Amino acid sequence: MRQGYFRNSREGRRGGRDVMNAAPSSDDQDALKRAAAEAAVQLVENDMVVGLGSGSTAAFAIEALARRHRQGLRFVGIPTSERTATHAKATGIPLTSFSEHRQIDLTIDGADEVEHGTLNLIKGLGGALLREKIVAAASHRRAIVVDGSKMVDRLGTQSSLPVEVVAFGLEATRDSLEVLGAGARARMSSGDPFVTDNGNLILDCDFGRINDPAHLEKRIRRIVGVVESGLFVSRADPVFVADAAGVHRLDSARAHRGSPPILVIMGVSGSGKSTIAEELSARLGWPFEEGDSLHPESNIAKMHAGIPLTDADRLPWLDRVAAWIDEQRSKKQPGIITCSALKRAYRQIIIGDRPEVRLVYLRGGRDLIAEHLAGRHGHFMPPALLRSQIDTLEEPDPSEDPLTVDLGASGAQVAHEIIRLLGNSVTISRGAAAHHTEGAGMHWRNSA
Ligand code: 5RP
Repeated sequence: MRQGYFRNSREGRRGGRDVMNAAPSSDDQDALKRAAAEAAVQLVENDMVVGLGSGSTAAFAIEALARRHRQGLRFVGIPTSERTATHAKATGIPLTSFSEHRQIDLTIDGADEVEHGTLNLIKGLGGALLREKIVAAASHRRAIVVDGSKMVDRLGTQSSLPVEVVAFGLEATRDSLEVLGAGARARMSSGDPFVTDNGNLILDCDFGRINDPAHLEKRIRRIVGVVESGLFVSRADPVFVADAAGVHRLDSARAHRGSPPILVIMGVSGSGKSTIAEELSARLGWPFEEGDSLHPESNIAKMHAGIPLTDADRLPWLDRVAAWIDEQRSKKQPGIITCSALKRAYRQIIIGDRPEVRLVYLRGGRDLIAEHLAGRHGHFMPPALLRSQIDTLEEPDPSEDPLTVDLGASGAQVAHEIIRLLGNSVTISRGAAAHHTEGAGMHWRNSA
């Protein structure tokens, strides 16, 4: 497929990525896109319903799928845009629709930005974001295919955020988006407003670095006149990214151990559990429960009075923490809960043999923690209780498989490290773009 597949609709793209994209030649860039797409297409199996993404990288996936179809693979596709539908039909891929299939097994789509670690996305510079999100929401898995220029540390650094809006009241909707902090402009195409497949318009919104994509997505959606935004939070899994070194498969933190994880953020009082949990919740879009809020009143009164809690005091609290965890598990939702979980026996109660639960241990020196506590106001735990907390602490041992993170860095950096530890990155072929041959088998190797 040609580069510039959606060229007319790209006028809103900011300079950053175009500059980065200027480095490799278009042939090299196409080779990277093709390599990522080829890797993702290996996930398609017989009798699957496959979501077909839009954009130039997804177009390579359609070519590869068509080839596998000609070789005998049976599947049907649901396209995310009229252009993709035309392309897929031309290549002979059998198409279906939601009237026949409510569930999609796997969608393969591109993206405009992929955030390192969280794998949150900005999509929609091609203008297909609404159908892409509908298809993504109905998909069991969503494989994202990109070349390396799309990887960013924070969303919003290279790309503006496309928001699909109804034409009526455009100016009022734009004002509301600007109240959220964006510079918003209507996307144009050859001098006319760009019109989506759904008959709507696009406002390209420049929010700068997006620190809390889940929150921003909700706030944008609440604006009357907005149909959908191009923020895709916690939806990508996996991402195939091709760069000069090869094709890498990035698994999301959410896919950890095959089911939505529930993180127990443990550590003594003052280790920054709540700050870090809030940061994780903002970046991952997972619900956060403040474990301290589950203490019975009598425990809070004791701590206020500087009296250390006993095992018996902590039992009803640990039961409530376990109940919150079990509720998330029953809903098959990820979650984050803070709990000092000082003793191994406590951790037995809240984690036990729940495979979804992952212990995150915030390890910090006593002086550092005392410093945190001295700067904290309005919390019921007086600094004098720190000593008893440290004395009580039984650090998790390797059999508990903790994710141990040393304190000292900022909350954002610690959260980033936890997300990195949760995710998984595997190089599946080296120099794939340079050595790509059609239909070549992928060799799965762990990256060193
Ligand atoms: C279209 C999209 C595309 O997936 C995104 O714009 C990436 O396109 P390309 O692969 O051409 O860079 O979201 O709405």
